[in-house]
Amino acid sequence: MRKKIVAGNWKMNKNLEEGQALASEVKHMAEDELSGDVQLIMCTPFIHLSTLKGLLKGSAIGLGAQNCSEHESGAYTGETSVDMLKSVGVEYVILGHSERREYFNESNELLAKKLDTTLKSQLTPIFCCGEPLEIREKEEQNKYVQQQIEESLFHLSAEEVSKVVIAYEPIWAIGTGKTASAEQAQEMHAVIRKQLEGKYGKEVADSISILYGGSVKPANAKEIFAGEDVDGGLIGGASLKSRDFIDIAKSF
Ligand code: 13P
Repeated sequence: MRKKIVAGNWKMNKNLEEGQALASEVKHMAEDELSGDVQLIMCTPFIHLSTLKGLLKGSAIGLGAQNCSEHESGAYTGETSVDMLKSVGVEYVILGHSERREYFNESNELLAKKLDTTLKSQLTPIFCCGEPLEIREKEEQNKYVQQQIEESLFHLSAEEVSKVVIAYEPIWAIGTGKTASAEQAQEMHAVIRKQLEGKYGKEVADSISILYGGSVKPANAKEIFAGEDVDGGLIGGASLKSRDFIDIAKSF
């Protein structure tokens, strides 16, 4: 059975006080309302991680970063290493979010290195892929996403790749209020799983959680999560509201 995951990506939102309030609300609501078969994860700004780890103590909610350096340590001003993340109790790290690809020039090749560094440190990467609108309009989205996966993931062994969580986030659906239809999401997730099966075999492909991201809200989560190959969501805007985030997790 694949893990069902609902992960929040706070992006660059919430100061520490606001972040603590949000995390604390989510923690209490999760305890009261969730059965425990969905893994909740909060991916917060780096600067909050240490404090939030303390706040989440004793809860099953996972804590994630939104990026990390491909280097292990050294003279890389402003960067954050996987060892630093581990040392404050972080378990997950988002890699290759489209905003990092677009604004910080992260390439498939760089992301392959970040995946190596992350897996070596035993953090769980949440690897993002997804096509821009012009590619979708040309109906070349499958090829585009397959190339992202091939160039960043396919150097990994079967054992390594089984530890990766994949998030499909069509760029045209991020923060736009425009979601992929449940059919479009399922279709791409199936394409990704088939590709993984071709390279690593069915057992490995079937074990990898593939999340959908892009304007997931309480109102559309149920329909999207119903897809056979959709194992949860990576949630931006709606993860900033405790009620919405929990309601999305309850949509399974
Ligand atoms: P929204 O849910 O705000 O569209 O963001 C999706 C996303 O980018 C999650 O990583």
